[in-house]
Amino acid sequence: MSAELIDGKALAAETRARVKAGVATLKAATGVTPGLGVVLVGDDPASRSYVTAKERALEEAGMRSVDVRLPEGTTQEELLAVIARLNADPQVHGILVQLPLPKGLDTDAVIRAIAPEKDVDGFTPVNVGKMLLGQTCFLPCTPHGILRLLEKAGTPTRGAHAVVVGRSDIVGRPIANLLTRKGPNGDATVTLCHSATQDLGRFTRQADILIVATGRPGTVTADMVKPGATVIDVGVNRVPDPTAQRGYRLRGDCDFEGVAKVAGKLTPVPGGVGPMTIAMLLENTLTAAQRAAEGASHVR
Ligand code: GUN
Repeated sequence: MSAELIDGKALAAETRARVKAGVATLKAATGVTPGLGVVLVGDDPASRSYVTAKERALEEAGMRSVDVRLPEGTTQEELLAVIARLNADPQVHGILVQLPLPKGLDTDAVIRAIAPEKDVDGFTPVNVGKMLLGQTCFLPCTPHGILRLLEKAGTPTRGAHAVVVGRSDIVGRPIANLLTRKGPNGDATVTLCHSATQDLGRFTRQADILIVATGRPGTVTADMVKPGATVIDVGVNRVPDPTAQRGYRLRGDCDFEGVAKVAGKLTPVPGGVGPMTIAMLLENTLTAAQRAAEGASHVR
């Protein structure tokens, strides 16, 4: 292996410690405890473990988590009623609805129902629009975490060719957009590849920064990486492995062993992007609570 690993766990720990201090300051000054409503519908094991990790991190930072667990058969009306209740609750400063929702629920309508000033995931049309326009808003947590990782790795974005593989609303499209913004952490030339891209390697081999978010292990192999590139692997895939204690192993979207021989810098899975997503969620929740305490809403 020649690539330097980008330690997302360490950066997330630093970020979380800073947030924890911010929470203590806010509580001492105003008596406000930041609160996040965490909504999980159904019992997808991966979603359940993400949500548990988020709740644990909130508690550790001194925040309140208002946990809402709903069964698989929850109706759209029931879910919208929960969102309305959280929107109206002054002790809840942020709302997170874990995605994907079970089939039959209208994700767009659910996200639209979240009050923009509580949208700490940055998923509502108001926040997405503001992000596109470069206005102050809650940035989506995974893309925001990726920007911090690039900064920490010392990989300049200005003038770099960034290639993003995957066009999801949660990762691919927002990170592609953020990297094109003017100013710090931006000014990159961006290519966005997706499932209809022909000869993916032709594009990925041009990348100074390669961000892979397809949810498919083995999407990027060593021959698809420019020597010395910074590679951010967003995938968290459970790959069956009878020798592992849980019966599966976590793998990213890249062939880690092969890519590590070619890349200059690389995020591991686990321990790369995942911990930063949670850290940025805490940061956004603190910001939402600070704004509420000031009585100001900057995101309306
Ligand atoms: N599912 C996968 N990533 C995310 C995320 O960042 N936020 C939410 N709410 N759901 C997700």
